[in-house]
Amino acid sequence: MRRHRGAGLRLVIRAATTEAIAAGAALIRRGDLVAFATETVYGLGADATNPTAVARIFEVKRRPSFDPLIVHIESPGQLSSVAAVMPRAATALAARFWPGPLTLVLPKAQAIPAIVTAGLPSVAVRLPSHAVARALIAAAGRPIAAPSANPFGYISPTTAAHVAAQLGDEIPLILDGGPCAVGLESTIISCVGPQPVLLRAGGIPLEDIGAVIGPVQVDPGGTGVLAPGQLPRHYAPRTPITIVHTLADIAAPQRAGAALLLPWPEPGTSGFGRVEVLADDRALPTVAARLFDAMRRLDAGGYERLYARAVAEVGLGRAIMDRLRRAATAER
Ligand code: TXA
Ligand code: MG
Repeated sequence: MRRHRGAGLRLVIRAATTEAIAAGAALIRRGDLVAFATETVYGLGADATNPTAVARIFEVKRRPSFDPLIVHIESPGQLSSVAAVMPRAATALAARFWPGPLTLVLPKAQAIPAIVTAGLPSVAVRLPSHAVARALIAAAGRPIAAPSANPFGYISPTTAAHVAAQLGDEIPLILDGGPCAVGLESTIISCVGPQPVLLRAGGIPLEDIGAVIGPVQVDPGGTGVLAPGQLPRHYAPRTPITIVHTLADIAAPQRAGAALLLPWPEPGTSGFGRVEVLADDRALPTVAARLFDAMRRLDAGGYERLYARAVAEVGLGRAIMDRLRRAATAER
């Protein structure tokens, strides 16, 4: 157990032993918040059936109340307490990808309070695969509403230390389950309309979704659901980011004060203040798993600008480019 030296001196990061899970579940049941590991990013959890507990999530994250949360369940049996109906496409997707980094937007069950869904008649549901997340939900005995455990608009946390660095003074417990294996948030598919719609690219590639349910419409935005995962500027470091398609575009004078983020090794990188290579194995899952941690480290490096090398938008490349583009969108 490690006590965090934040101003509050309240936070405890604990390896997710059985005792720590039980302590986390007790906190959830009494209406407190617990940050916990999932396979995508760390979540900031509260009892999804307790509106006061959920309100605290919005407060701690400084998240606008129009931004609905994802409800995490531990078994398919829990679904009926969260969602009113399971459309056919949702059943097929759940059978194939749960537990895992897929969130389904479904008609909401009554037990879920309006604050969770920002007043929408639909609810976002995910059955995570990470053992810590599942053990916590099971021990709490209720569904857990959890956004990513970061201040609103900043880069999502993929380690317990990321959570502690930003929210450490505001939450009593972080259940440390190691670095997140996927490293990007879940793919979100809405199943409430006539056709399934991709609302957010994420850990399950769109091609894999399509292989199960056929072509999926991609939300062009402006559907009336205000979803900050869809705001142009999100997942953003403080240092300005520029996405480049070829390194030759970056002139020598621009390189000195800048850091370069590369998906994999490539030549022509001389002159940068720092070069960060995400995946020596050239594999997109490795790029995804390391992306947010690298962005945080480079953001703390005091560089004038970060240059991020683009990847092709296939497979996980779609979600990687989505996060890079939102991070690169200048504040208006
Ligand atoms: O991987 C993940 O999904 C992580 C981990 C913790 O599970 N969670 C996560 O939550 O990314 P968050 O709060 O950062 O993203 C929630 C997003 C909202 O911003 C919105 O885009 C979408 O989920 N969402 C939630 N409820 C919705 C609804 N009823 N209709 C449409 N979109 C919804
Ligand atoms: Mg988030």
